[in-house]
Amino acid sequence: MNNELMALALKVSKARDDANNMTYNPDTKKMEKCTLKAVDELSCDFPRGQVTAVLGHNGAGKTTTIRCMTASHSITRGTVEIDGVDVAKNPQWVRKSVGVCPQHDVLYDGLTAREHIELFGAMKGDNDVARALGGVDMLQKADELVSSFSGGQKRRLSVALALLGDPKLIVLDEPTTGMDVIARQSVWKMIEKRKEGRCIILTTHSMEEADVLCDRLCIMADGEVQCIGRTHELKRRFGRGCE
Ligand SMILES: Nc1ncnc2c1ncn2[C@@H]1O[C@H](COP(=O)(O)OP(=O)(O)OP(=O)(O)O)[C@@H](O)[C@H]1O
Ligand SMILES: [Mg+2]
Repeated sequence: MNNELMALALKVSKARDDANNMTYNPDTKKMEKCTLKAVDELSCDFPRGQVTAVLGHNGAGKTTTIRCMTASHSITRGTVEIDGVDVAKNPQWVRKSVGVCPQHDVLYDGLTAREHIELFGAMKGDNDVARALGGVDMLQKADELVSSFSGGQKRRLSVALALLGDPKLIVLDEPTTGMDVIARQSVWKMIEKRKEGRCIILTTHSMEEADVLCDRLCIMADGEVQCIGRTHELKRRFGRGCE
């Protein structure tokens, strides 16, 4: 692994039980026939000190992969390790240690931005409201209710929550979707600034974002990784299609 520390090793071997084509349905509490493998035979490492973009069409399995990495989904087979810690066996540790921005905002309409930082910050041991909201240019909105926020403002708050506690692994699922150009660039700058010593993984549908921000690309299709490598190498190999 050269001198790079391995930050996250992912070996998700089939999201469903392929041998029997069965999966557990928590609603009926029974094993049921399944037809879909959302993520299949995925095996990759995400190194520290780099930003990796996970790219792929709608339904490629990006969000499912992220949810498996962050203990939001249990995997049928395989392991996910963060710095040697098994995610499945230590979900509480993962929730405390990993910064996650989910694809769909998980915010409370009846709370202000400040109250969100205080609530989530209590779990992460960080309640520096000025730093968290200032970083996404939302300080002026600190005492307004989330119900009054636009989509882009909610997204900025979700990114701020993911960065609380200065986590070593930051996973952002389409962080800049719905943001205006200025907000997007300030999030890019913040990610760039935090990159050193941290492992940052993000999904995006913007090739510009992947190109500007990311050292590595991981391209998924139909639940499988098609290729993974350094951005400039993939661009060199696949040329214009990657731009
Ligand atoms: N709750 C669910 N129940 C059943 N199938 C689901 C569920 N969530 C996702 N899927 C299926 O899993 C597959 C992967 O979905 P996923 O959300 O991981 O894709 P994605 O790459 O994040 O797509 P997008 O770019 O649209 O966000 C898709 O076929 C989707 O239909
Ligand atoms: Mg998704």
